[in-house]
Amino acid sequence: MQDTLNALVAKAQIELAALKARPDFESAKARLVGPNGELTALMKQMGAVPKEQRPAMGKLINETKGRLQEMLDAALRSIEAGELQAQLGPSVDATLPSPDIGPGTYHPLTLVREEMCRILRKVGFVVADGPEVETEYYCFDALNTPADHPARDAQDTFYFPETVRFGNVSKKTPDEKYLLRTHTSSVQIRTMLKGPPPIRIVSPGRTYRRDTTDATHSANFHQLECLYVDRNVTVRDLKALLDYIFASLLGKETKTRFRPHYFSYTEPSFEVDLSAKHLPKVKKEWIEIGGCGMVDPAVFAGVGYDPEVWTGYAFGMGLERLAMLLYGIDDIRYFYQNDLRFLKQFG
Ligand code: DAH
Repeated sequence: MQDTLNALVAKAQIELAALKARPDFESAKARLVGPNGELTALMKQMGAVPKEQRPAMGKLINETKGRLQEMLDAALRSIEAGELQAQLGPSVDATLPSPDIGPGTYHPLTLVREEMCRILRKVGFVVADGPEVETEYYCFDALNTPADHPARDAQDTFYFPETVRFGNVSKKTPDEKYLLRTHTSSVQIRTMLKGPPPIRIVSPGRTYRRDTTDATHSANFHQLECLYVDRNVTVRDLKALLDYIFASLLGKETKTRFRPHYFSYTEPSFEVDLSAKHLPKVKKEWIEIGGCGMVDPAVFAGVGYDPEVWTGYAFGMGLERLAMLLYGIDDIRYFYQNDLRFLKQFG
């Protein structure tokens, strides 16, 4: 009897190790330990065993049953592991370079910024840079923006605590506050203080305001600033330049118009509207795109330029607004979410 039981265990071991699928496992289980299986058949022979041998024999059979059950459990675990493996697919070597890494693409804001700079370089502008951390002088005072102007309010502007120091941002006066620039117009002042006219600069960059984020507002956004200083510059030159850059960027059908406005650093001042109904998703006839005007003589005087000799124009506009128009994007938040499904559309 013992030999028969051992033989059964040995045979089961080989059979179970070869199993790959659940149906095979179920039939092997039935054959080994089922009601009509081999172990049950052997147990039925117990009746023929002499009474005194029965306890030892019962023990043997129970042990065999236990071993068979262990082997069945192991076989089932290995089938389950195989099934899981099949679902997961081939194993991945995370240390290998990605097979589909592909070339990266430019961010839509980068594309518009670079295109605008290219358009402006063609007519003699050079790119100028300025710090994102500014001081009140460059951001407001030098731009003729009085102390009681709303833009200077802590509700609108991010000021730094008085104890904070930025060694790489020059101050005009020791007790000025640092702040995150609310516009790129501060670069006008930094550029003019570096040397005499003529000046023809374009300065794109990040700007910050205490805005609550929604589809058209963001506390951090981008602007593009231009300043032209020379002799005999007129509003006509300003309008011609804006017509040229918007036609170049958005297509010849694009029209621009000026609406009288007030900015403390230009006189006269205008808001600039665009008409570009040929663009996707543009439904309104006129869309406000930025501000502009002729540099105020007080600004020239402040940087040491003789207002009797020098004239100039300046303008600033939002880059997000331009990119939204150009690409038909209806929510500013897409620009900052880094969602590849969005970004990959601007290859
Ligand atoms: N700085 C203005 C703003 O952020 C835009 C602007 C208006 C820029 C008139 C200029 C300008 O250079 O002349 O709303």
